[in-house]
Amino acid sequence: MTAKFSSIPADRLPDLLQAMPKAELHMHIEGSLEPELIFALAQRNGVALSYPSVEALREAYAFTDLQSFLDIYYAGASVLLKEADFHDMAWAYFLRAKADNVVHAELFFDPQTHTERGVAFETVIRGLTSACERARSELGISSALIMCFLRHLSEEDAFKTLEQALPYREHFIGVGLDSSERGHPPEKFARVFAKCRELGLRLVAHAGEEGPPEYIINALDVLKVERIDHGVRCVEDPALVQRLAQQGTPLTVCPLSNIKLCVFKTMAEHNLRTLLDAGLKVTINSDDPAYFGGYVNENYLETFAALPLDASHAYTLARNSLEASFVDEAHKAGWISQLDEVFARAA
Ligand code: ADE
Ligand code: ZN
Repeated sequence: MTAKFSSIPADRLPDLLQAMPKAELHMHIEGSLEPELIFALAQRNGVALSYPSVEALREAYAFTDLQSFLDIYYAGASVLLKEADFHDMAWAYFLRAKADNVVHAELFFDPQTHTERGVAFETVIRGLTSACERARSELGISSALIMCFLRHLSEEDAFKTLEQALPYREHFIGVGLDSSERGHPPEKFARVFAKCRELGLRLVAHAGEEGPPEYIINALDVLKVERIDHGVRCVEDPALVQRLAQQGTPLTVCPLSNIKLCVFKTMAEHNLRTLLDAGLKVTINSDDPAYFGGYVNENYLETFAALPLDASHAYTLARNSLEASFVDEAHKAGWISQLDEVFARAA
């Protein structure tokens, strides 16, 4: 089905990667806060920052691991106080997404990062929801929200967050698990995920970014997630790789994030091609684009520049992103036919 695209010349790849319709399934909306917007919101809200300038803040983006990033990411989010702040942040992301031909985006948000600071859950969800509605009407981008529980906090805190969220149930489609992975295994959240499942929420979790393959196994077996966020460490367990391939479990891989957080030393060492060759349903995503040096198309471009990937892989990755999304089959089919047209024209 896709091998026929292998003959598309490599010099056409950048345009093709840009033009192909795609879904983004792993993007933390708080990770789209650019330093310029952090400073603008700090000024608007009278929040003091510990960096003297946009440049100084950007220079601090030299991470050694996930935790070194999270410390600065939570500090950046401290400028978000009002509904308009959440709206403006998400709207800025949607403008970037439009430029990258993202047709559908499933956005993570971290309510606990805000409720802990006294910002009401309602403020967060209303600001994000209004930006999603605006993206639909003004940009034609479809989107959905996925609420993440912070895994460094307790399961009891996650239950409290779920309770705060339930009056706004129609505004989010699922739940995820993010923040510091090591030492906070999926099973810590077994009961709250079981409750979310009962409520009919879609389930995803970060696993196998820094954590071992057992975290991926327990995300599947204990939390019963439908997609694995990151999952790159699955290669350390061949039986797990085989299982993921057989089940068709999507992995939302974030190449630039993996380089910036030192999961791989260089892009040339990234295992994305290995994962694809193993038959895994791999997708490419930006994770926290303002912090990791690029939005989704930069992730595609840099990955294709560093690894032996051709247009057939581009087709597979874009198609995987659409198929792995939580939208109905009719919408998926519409976008896949748009994708087919783009590739038919290029071939
Ligand atoms: N929160 C934002 N980005 C994250 C990542 N890459 N891993 C875990 N938690 C996150
Ligand atoms: Zn993430």
